[in-house]
This record gives sequence, C-alpha cells and structure tokens, in this order.
Amino acid sequence: MRERIFPVTPENIRRAAEIIRSGGLVAFPTETVYGLGANALDPKAVAKVFAAKGRPQDNPLILHVASIKEASKYAEVNEWAESLMQQFWPGPLSVVLYSLDEVPEIARGGLDTVALRMPSNAAALALIREAGLPIAAPSANRSGRPSPTTAETVADDLGDAVDMILDDGQTQVGLESTVIDATEKSAIAILRPGGVTREELERVVDVVDDFEAEEGTDEILRRSPGTRHRHYAPALPLVLWNGENSTFSALALDKRWCYLGLTHPPDGAVETIVFKSLEEYAQKLYTSLRELEICEAEVIIADLPRESGLGEALRNRLKRAAGR
Ligand code: TXA
Ligand code: MG
Repeated sequence: MRERIFPVTPENIRRAAEIIRSGGLVAFPTETVYGLGANALDPKAVAKVFAAKGRPQDNPLILHVASIKEASKYAEVNEWAESLMQQFWPGPLSVVLYSLDEVPEIARGGLDTVALRMPSNAAALALIREAGLPIAAPSANRSGRPSPTTAETVADDLGDAVDMILDDGQTQVGLESTVIDATEKSAIAILRPGGVTREELERVVDVVDDFEAEEGTDEILRRSPGTRHRHYAPALPLVLWNGENSTFSALALDKRWCYLGLTHPPDGAVETIVFKSLEEYAQKLYTSLRELEICEAEVIIADLPRESGLGEALRNRLKRAAGR
C-alpha cells in the first residue's frame, strides 16, 4: 500500500486537509512518531481510527491543535496548564484537562477529560491549520505494535485502512509525547514519560506521584487507560539487559540472539545495533525493533539505559515491549 505515500508539499497538505474535513483518515508526521489522524469533532471519523488500529474503545485519543487558543475551545485550560503550554508547545507534551462538550465522547474514551497537544513538526501544524479542525490522532501503528517513525512502517501496518500517508522521512524524537495530567491545580502527574523529560518539567512545575511505578493499580487504570493494554511489542521475544557482562549469559541461554543498545554486547550476536547516544537510541528504537524482529534469531536482547532524561521514556517503552 505504499502507493498511498505522498511527500510533504503544499498541494499534498491541501489534499490531506480535504480528506480530514470529509471524514477520512490521514497518517501524518509529528516530531515524535507518525499519527493516524481524523476530524476529532466527527464521531464517525474517530470511530474509523479505532477500527483501523484495532484499538480498544476505552483508550482515548490525543487532540492535535495548532495553538493554545484553539486548545481552550476543547478543554478547561487553567492558568497552570496554560503556562505549561507556553513553555513546552509546540512540542512533545500532551496535556490532559477537563473536556468541554464539543469533544465527542468516543475521542475521549468515555472520560470527562481530554488530552491536547500542539506538535512542532511543520507539516503537522500546516495540516491542522489547513483542515481548520482539531485532529484526533493516536500513533499510526496497529494496536500493540511498535509505533511508526517512518511513512513506510505506517503503510506496512495499516495498509488500505488509511486514505493518505504524508511522508516527512524519519521522525526526530522517535518516542511518543509525554502525557501529563494537569487537572489538579497544585501539581501535575506524568501518565506516560516521553519526549519532554521529567527534569524539564520539574524545572517549571511540581510533579507528584509516579503513576508508571504503580502500573496496574485502579488509580492508574482510571487516569491513564492506555497503560491497561500491551504495547510496542516486536514479533520476537524481547529480553532486557542491565549492561553488566556478568549477567549477559543468563539472558540468551542457548538461543540465537540479536541485540540493540548503547553498550557493546559480548560476541555472538546474529545482528547488532549499537547507538551513539540516548537520543539516537530513542529515535531509532522502534525501527530497530522492526528490523531485528525479522533477523535470524530467536530472541532480541536490549540494553536498558539509565533512568535520567530520555532514559525514563526509553525504559518505559522497553519494559512494556518486553511484556512487563
Ligand atoms: O507523540 C504522541 O503522543 C503521538 C503523536 C501522534 O502525537 N500520539 C500517541 O497517541 O502516542 P497514542 O494514542 O498512541 O497514545 C496516547 C496516550 C495513551 O496512553 C492514552 O491512554 C493517553 O495518551 N490519553 C489520551 N487521552 C487521555 C485522557 N483524557 N486521560 C488520560 N490519558 C489519556
Ligand atoms: Mg500508541
């Protein structure tokens, strides 16, 4: 279905916007991953997004907007949230706030809140502006698969379920946005670590309770429905390594293995991908998992980076891809 892929040009942005306005689906680049977009105000269009991805209906979508002013048409943007938006938008931060009635229930997964994000990718912003609508968009992968960071992986995953794919090459950040709950006025909670780091947020606001640490509890399931479902899984089993040679042999057992990470592994891999920096690991994680899952091995071993900076989001995705 790669014939649905079109380069980013003003003409193709106009066509894509027309498809969105008439209820169709457009996959488009953002700085994090490719999104599968639909008119957020059209329940039928939003229903197509869930169907195309095979996504559970209780997992709400992020509304992509082109300004803070537009965000305030769809959610109760408190002063607190507005200063966060000023600080981090456009960029990889999704802000969960109480929803206004304009947002169809299906886009919110039945919750009384809605997630809003203004992406920084120029094509994404142009598309939202041209459509003149908020665009509801989850990552453009089939539910449970690694998120797409190239137009080709969108085509491979979604095939003809998507009307058009706008191609802007490999995305820059490579991991999804940070999702924060900003409904309380005194502090925010990180529901999903991502492209904006905890350290960056802590410079500006108080960050309370770590919901990820309590995964599976009733509170996190209520506030962050996405954590209920398995995510990012490659076709081969994924095993995580703490970077110490003494523990390595226990991981692979007698299986053929391939590897990705920052540290060079011991000899013996069928295929090895070593990254130069945490940023490169994040950017290429999902394409690397898709590359390695078809290698001649029985298991993928991935190195778990340290917790700081983007490391928190990387560890989160790796653990969930490993099924933990
Ligand atoms: O970087 C990104 O965020 C990408 C690009 C396309 O913008 N989008 C993305 O969407 O990753 P998705 O649907 O794959 O992940 C959205 C996450 C899910 O974990 C969902 O549960 C959470 O955001 N979410 C959305 N609305 C929410 C709400 N009202 N309350 C709590 N969590 C919400
Ligand atoms: Mg996703």
